[in-house]
Amino acid sequence: MIDSSIPMAITTGKYGHFAKEAQDLADYYNLPFIERNNKGIDKLLQLHDLKALLVLTEDGLAAYSLGQKEKLRFHPGMAVPRMRLAKAGQQEPLLKAIEPQEGMRVLDCTLGLASDALTVALAIGEEGRVFGLEASPAIYIITDYGLRHYLTANKAIAQALKRITVQNENYNQFLPACREKFDVVYFDPMFDHGLYKSQRINALRPFADYSPLMPEMVRQALNLAPKAVVKYRQEAKLNLEFDEIIKGNYSPIAFGVCYRR
Ligand SMILES: C[S@@+](CC[C@H](N)C(=O)[O-])C[C@H]1O[C@@H](n2cnc3c(N)ncnc32)[C@H](O)[C@@H]1O
Repeated sequence: MIDSSIPMAITTGKYGHFAKEAQDLADYYNLPFIERNNKGIDKLLQLHDLKALLVLTEDGLAAYSLGQKEKLRFHPGMAVPRMRLAKAGQQEPLLKAIEPQEGMRVLDCTLGLASDALTVALAIGEEGRVFGLEASPAIYIITDYGLRHYLTANKAIAQALKRITVQNENYNQFLPACREKFDVVYFDPMFDHGLYKSQRINALRPFADYSPLMPEMVRQALNLAPKAVVKYRQEAKLNLEFDEIIKGNYSPIAFGVCYRR
């Protein structure tokens, strides 16, 4: 169920094409549909006092917030080059940390645009599943729509996208209440500093949930899975202890691994 306290709406491109599809989408996600009427996006955001405006065009669905330069849209990101690296026998730190096996069930608590999830989904085979949680309603819709509609000639990617599901849930509420079991629980929280070079992460920024990952949530994760993996920037100050740390060769990113004892 989408958090309806965040004012969002769906509209069309400037010339009103795809109005029926945009209306259906608004019904599907239980959001208001607003007529574009040839107006600019910032104008509509201000006029309707919205935090996010979702715009459906021939290029798919994109999310905008007031004054934002980069629109948020779904794209499989670095999953393909990462998979090639892994296949060529080179160290791919995310996969090294997760240790994917055929048929694994992975809970991704911070799904974002599902780029990490797709890398994992490609590696866990046809029977594997990635269950994603995303707290931000706008990011949830962009990713949910993208997972269901992204068109690609790459069969492996098309199939792997179908192995990922997403729920608009906050892991702080989900984990303590969850009765399911997983093989790995993964966290990639936002860090509130301006060091991101990634355009993808910058596009997420206005919509993302910035709550820090608390040690209690890693403990809760280990009730559901024998292993939890946390992605973090090496310069970040974390209040977490890891059993193992996996770093890439020239990257500021590291993966902390905790095992159930
Ligand atoms: C750094 S991004 C994740 C990027 C993702 N790994 C990818 O490959 O696209 C962090 C995401 O987690 C979401 N998030 C942060 N805290 C959360 C929480 N408590 N529950 C669920 N989602 C959360 C943010 O809204 C954001 O979309």
